[in-house]
Amino acid sequence: MTVILRTVGEVRAWRGALPAGRKVGFVPTMGALHAGHISLMALAKSRAAVTIASIFVNPLQFGPNEDLAKYPRPIEKDLALLEAAGVDALFLPEVADLYPEGASTFVVEESVSGPMCGAARPGHFRGVTTVVLKLFNIVQPDLAVFGQKDAQQCAVIERMVRDLVIPIEIVRGPIVREPDGLALSSRNVYLSPEDRAAAPLIHTSLQAVKAAFDAGQHDAGALAAIGRAVLGQDPRFTVQYWDVRDPKSLAVIDNVGRGGALLAVAAYLGTTRLIDNIVVS
Ligand code: PAJ
Repeated sequence: MTVILRTVGEVRAWRGALPAGRKVGFVPTMGALHAGHISLMALAKSRAAVTIASIFVNPLQFGPNEDLAKYPRPIEKDLALLEAAGVDALFLPEVADLYPEGASTFVVEESVSGPMCGAARPGHFRGVTTVVLKLFNIVQPDLAVFGQKDAQQCAVIERMVRDLVIPIEIVRGPIVREPDGLALSSRNVYLSPEDRAAAPLIHTSLQAVKAAFDAGQHDAGALAAIGRAVLGQDPRFTVQYWDVRDPKSLAVIDNVGRGGALLAVAAYLGTTRLIDNIVVS
């Protein structure tokens, strides 16, 4: 049975009643769960004795023109998936639990969160770091699992945990994809049938660049140009960025060296924004 905890007090009571020394693994989400989320639950279960997920559509990480109001919220289906995955507890807070009236304290990471999605979505990572630190303080897990799908989010949270000396191990789970290569995302449901058919080209562009890298092309600019050209074959896409960066600092690199590189894409299909990435080394 997945126990549903609706308030901070309920989480604290649940946490306090656990036998001392039992490792707690935490998977924060915004719901509309799919196999990608569930793979993170399985990873948490394999690494911790007790697992807790959260579902909270965090208003602070959405921009004024983004999809906060229409973000899917299929809570009954989500709960069934968490039950089936054997997750022990679900934290399901209300906005007022996490943002008391007049809340005026925020967490801002100032380097890793700058480029890519940070540049495209001002304030987004401030919302993510603020809510994740709050969730960490409430749940007090030993480890927390995040998906490589949001590679920059992982890098920002790892930096926050290091910089603020947060005693939580951050574990990254690999990207789960559809058979045609499209990375699973709660936002894929927004795609029209035509856009859904086109969407795997994002992954194709990543694969093409990986192939060029494996064949010896290590110039970052040349690699990014290949990726942009592949995605440019279909005029449905509006590419926001197609970048080759240092996988940890997310700094721009000229050449892919020993540290490898993060190949990362954000593109619009209609009004739906999709992201994907691959690490090469
Ligand atoms: P959400 O988009 O719901 O994602 C929750 C977690 O699932 C994130 O760590 C994300 O990287 C991971 N995930 C999404 N799609 C995946 C896929 N195809 N394969 C593997 N993992 C995948 O990310 C957020 O929520 C929020 O920003 C949050 C961290 C909860 C803070 O509000």
